[in-house]
Amino acid sequence: MEKQKGPFSVFVTRHIHEPALEKIRAVADEVEIWPLESAPPKSVLIDRASRVDGILCLLTDPMDAEVIAASTGKFKVISQMAVGFDNIDLQSATARRIPVGNTPGVLTETTADMAWALLMAVARRVVEADRQVRQGIWRPWGPHVLTGIDVFGATLGIIGMGRIGQAVARRSKGFNMNVLYTDIQRQPEVEAELGLRFVGLDELLEKSDFISLHSYLSAENYHMIGKAQFEKMKPTAILINTARGGLIDPDALTTALQQGQIAAAGLDVFEPEPIPADHPLLSLENVVIAPHIASASVQTRLRMALMAAENLIAGLHGLRLPYCANPAVYKD
Ligand code: GLV
Repeated sequence: MEKQKGPFSVFVTRHIHEPALEKIRAVADEVEIWPLESAPPKSVLIDRASRVDGILCLLTDPMDAEVIAASTGKFKVISQMAVGFDNIDLQSATARRIPVGNTPGVLTETTADMAWALLMAVARRVVEADRQVRQGIWRPWGPHVLTGIDVFGATLGIIGMGRIGQAVARRSKGFNMNVLYTDIQRQPEVEAELGLRFVGLDELLEKSDFISLHSYLSAENYHMIGKAQFEKMKPTAILINTARGGLIDPDALTTALQQGQIAAAGLDVFEPEPIPADHPLLSLENVVIAPHIASASVQTRLRMALMAAENLIAGLHGLRLPYCANPAVYKD
């Protein structure tokens, strides 16, 4: 259905892809785009929430209770260009019957690729090797030079068997891995399809050579990997996090890596983001860290922007969001 251009005003918190902006401009007569690469300050979000019909935001924008409380009766939708939405106070939005959109599905494979990129880079010390060569250190071929850990045939433990966890498990088949998983819900069909074994968290931590996190962040699983969990891991274990920094206690992680309680980590996310430049983790060779780029392929980012525009436009028109994080808003 062609949407009519309405007297809508929207705030888009970053310069997203032009094809997505074109779709938004086709239905909204006022489209303000935050011009900077960094997130708008909270005062700006509060001000815009009090004036516009909808906000298209990113995961670095604090759409908390205060921002949502500033919205007026005309405010219709929050559309986030990300699958995760822990930066949005979903409870406040639902209480005000504001639908929140997200972008599930389109970034699954791209994010799984990044988890594997980190896993392989850490296991085979690729970044450390690159650093040495650039520093003029090309160590002669030697029996112990830059030896890593085998991926083929190893045990992979996946925490969170949603879409991305499944995509990671699927890739492991090519590496003949034994895959364990844990989740709040057991998934017999996925287990059967991918040959996975469901275990409790402790068993997964004790038995896995590689542990990869793929859960949403919530109040319940905040810092689910802390001192006690590192104590259960193998000293040769490699931890990969492409989900959310808040799943891991950063101090416990730093200690575990410094003390050789685990072998190494590959991180695309951290708490806080950005990681402070003088953080002790950054002086460790056994860490590969990227600035939250797991979904950052050209194709996927465009798909995410279009999906976020689609959600925003539906919300402006009072239609059900095609991808809604709080479907409770549609219950009577
Ligand atoms: C990225 O982290 C996302 O949630 O889309």
